Amino acid sequence: MADQQDTSRVPHLELKSVSKAFACAGNKVITAVKDFSLVVQKGEAITIIGPSGCGKSTTLRMIGGFIPPDSGEVLLDGVSLSYNGPEQRTIPMVFQSYALFPHMNVFENIAYGLKARKKHRDTIQHDVAMMCQMLNLVGTEDRFPHQLSDGQQQRVALARALVLKPELLLFDEPLSNLDARLRLQTRREIKKMQKLLGITTVYVTHDQSEALSMPDRVVVMNRGAIIQVGTPREVYNNPRTPFVADFIGNANFYDGKILEFTAEKAVVTFNHLEVALDPAQCDGTYLPGDGVFVAILPQSVTLSSYHPPESAYQVPGKIAGLSFNGYSIEYEVEFGETFIRVVVPHNLTFVDEYEVKEQVLMHFHPSSFHLFDSKET
Ligand SMILES: Nc1ncnc2c1ncn2[C@@H]1O[C@H](COP(=O)(O)OP(=O)(O)OP(=O)(O)O)[C@@H](O)[C@H]1O
Ligand SMILES: [Mg+2]
Repeated sequence: MADQQDTSRVPHLELKSVSKAFACAGNKVITAVKDFSLVVQKGEAITIIGPSGCGKSTTLRMIGGFIPPDSGEVLLDGVSLSYNGPEQRTIPMVFQSYALFPHMNVFENIAYGLKARKKHRDTIQHDVAMMCQMLNLVGTEDRFPHQLSDGQQQRVALARALVLKPELLLFDEPLSNLDARLRLQTRREIKKMQKLLGITTVYVTHDQSEALSMPDRVVVMNRGAIIQVGTPREVYNNPRTPFVADFIGNANFYDGKILEFTAEKAVVTFNHLEVALDPAQCDGTYLPGDGVFVAILPQSVTLSSYHPPESAYQVPGKIAGLSFNGYSIEYEVEFGETFIRVVVPHNLTFVDEYEVKEQVLMHFHPSSFHLFDSKET
């Protein structure tokens, strides 16, 4: 299992069957988080990803000591959080809105927490200067927040949290106000600092590339519950449910039927294609004739110029549409009576490009197919 831990160590952070519901208008109750359990080791970087409203921020607020769970508990270094009010909260959190002090300049904003902790003047000078250096803020120290760009304000918010050298740092969509380039740059900075300072981080996002590129492990949530936990590669390559294949992998889905199912192989037919899979790629066991859903990740198909197929895993198709985004090209290809999305890297040297209406040959890699017994979660 991806979530296996070394039991000889006390985890830095542990959530034990944590649940939270909110009362809403009309006597309605919304279950925001249900039965959430997670063990996080010291220095580990975790991202929590899921659609809007799935309970990410609520989970983070319970870890941060802002709201108590209805049931279950949050443990820090083995000690249960007490939720005794703001003065008890020691875990810094970086939010989407930076909430800088408007009447303080950059230096004072970053120094605020150190001053509150009665650090020596020289230490404050030294630590703030180091943060400004690391986060590319040198030269902005005397400016006030309204005199800074969004990206600079975000980095000041980050510096203000990092300068305290927290052991645990929480992020709630901290980069969603930034443009794509700054987001990438700040993402790298956070990752570098996290590793450099060995900070345990829990980072909430609904951005798939952020969720996969930053952490040691990803937690995928839907409707208040954890659906899958694993390294980014585990979660991306081996989605446990159709929801994960769709939300993380942007997979293509097809109705299929099982032709044969043994301990050695699973043969499935869909869209006039017959493929033999490793049963490990199937969610559960099946009988011949069972209906299944076949998920194919868009990156697992390759294209070549048309030539007569040489195996059952090569299928002719016609380009129906394409979208170029710099790093890659997403083709929509006619596939039997339906379509398939295929993403290929945009590489000026090695990869051919195709035009709309061009005949191509699709090469399927059966090892990257996944079978599910229902479309649910
Ligand atoms: N204080 C509250 N009172 C009532 N309902 C709430 C409250 N806070 C959150 N909720 C509800 O709980 C659910 C989870 O909310 P939460 O803010 O945790 O979602 P999220 O995953 O962070 O979403 P987003 O990506 O949009 O920020 C939602 O249905 C939300 O409407
Ligand atoms: Mg949120």
